[in-house]
Amino acid sequence: MSATRKIIIDTDPGQDDAVAILLALASPELEILGLTAVAGNVPLKLTEKNARKICELAGKPETKVFAGAIRPLARSLVTAEEVHGQSGLNGPELPEPTMPLQAQYAVDFIVETLMKEDSGTVTLCPLGPLTNIALALIREPKIAPRIKEIVLMGGGFFEGGNVTPAAEFNIYVDPQAADVVLRSGVPIVMMPLDVTHKALTTGKRIAAFRDLGTRVGIATAEMLEFFERFDEEKYGTDGGPLHDPCVIAYLLKPELFKGRHCNVTVETASELTMGMTVIDWWGVTKRDKNATVMRDIDHDGFFALLVERLGRL
Ligand code: RIB
Ligand code: CA
Repeated sequence: MSATRKIIIDTDPGQDDAVAILLALASPELEILGLTAVAGNVPLKLTEKNARKICELAGKPETKVFAGAIRPLARSLVTAEEVHGQSGLNGPELPEPTMPLQAQYAVDFIVETLMKEDSGTVTLCPLGPLTNIALALIREPKIAPRIKEIVLMGGGFFEGGNVTPAAEFNIYVDPQAADVVLRSGVPIVMMPLDVTHKALTTGKRIAAFRDLGTRVGIATAEMLEFFERFDEEKYGTDGGPLHDPCVIAYLLKPELFKGRHCNVTVETASELTMGMTVIDWWGVTKRDKNATVMRDIDHDGFFALLVERLGRL
């Protein structure tokens, strides 16, 4: 097996975050240096607890979980209990975690890890608002050239937004943080709604998780059955978009995705379009190309990977 890829997952669980974390924990190609929780779908005290619940569900209580930013850089926190439920992980009954939360502040962990590990060997995988990542870049600008890649779920363009007509949730919650990350010069791979909306949790796909017959498979089916109801009603589709696992699937099988290197700029002034990611897909500006934006996915291959890997836990 080729050398494992070192990653830090920054997350606001969230059922789709949970499936992404399970996929990463099930994949020997990845060495998870830590999970850093951020306020997003639900407040920080729940996202850090949920991250620990998922590690214990996966049978990986040794995983290091850190708590990070309690609110966005500048704006007030906007949460999404209407999608994820009050706990942020509604669906399965998961026990209170017994594994410890690390004492170190997540932002300090990110900086310390990037300064300690060989330069260019650590990939950051943000699955929520980019507050922790921006704070780390501001706290220690020297980490920017040391980051191998940032592979993030966030943004949208042709698909529009999901929390306003213009903005996707992760970017909308902390547009100033997204601006710091997009201007950082770090190589970025972006999974916007344009690609995640093509990865729908249809009834057949949820049944495949349940048919694993394992604690993880059944809990995943229960999480997704809760998570999808909001988007099924909104979009009238069979199933909801499974956003965050696209980030981890890209690390494991990049060939599942197709996209293009282009400029992405975020709106941080107008309240009408706050958090909108303006993606110059057709190259009509001279703005620097700062992200590889994914727009297509082999969704059958994506779900086959998910079921096969989660079946290992
Ligand atoms: O807009 C979808 C994103 O917002 C996902 O990461 C979901 O977990 C929420 O954080
Ligand atoms: Ca998320």
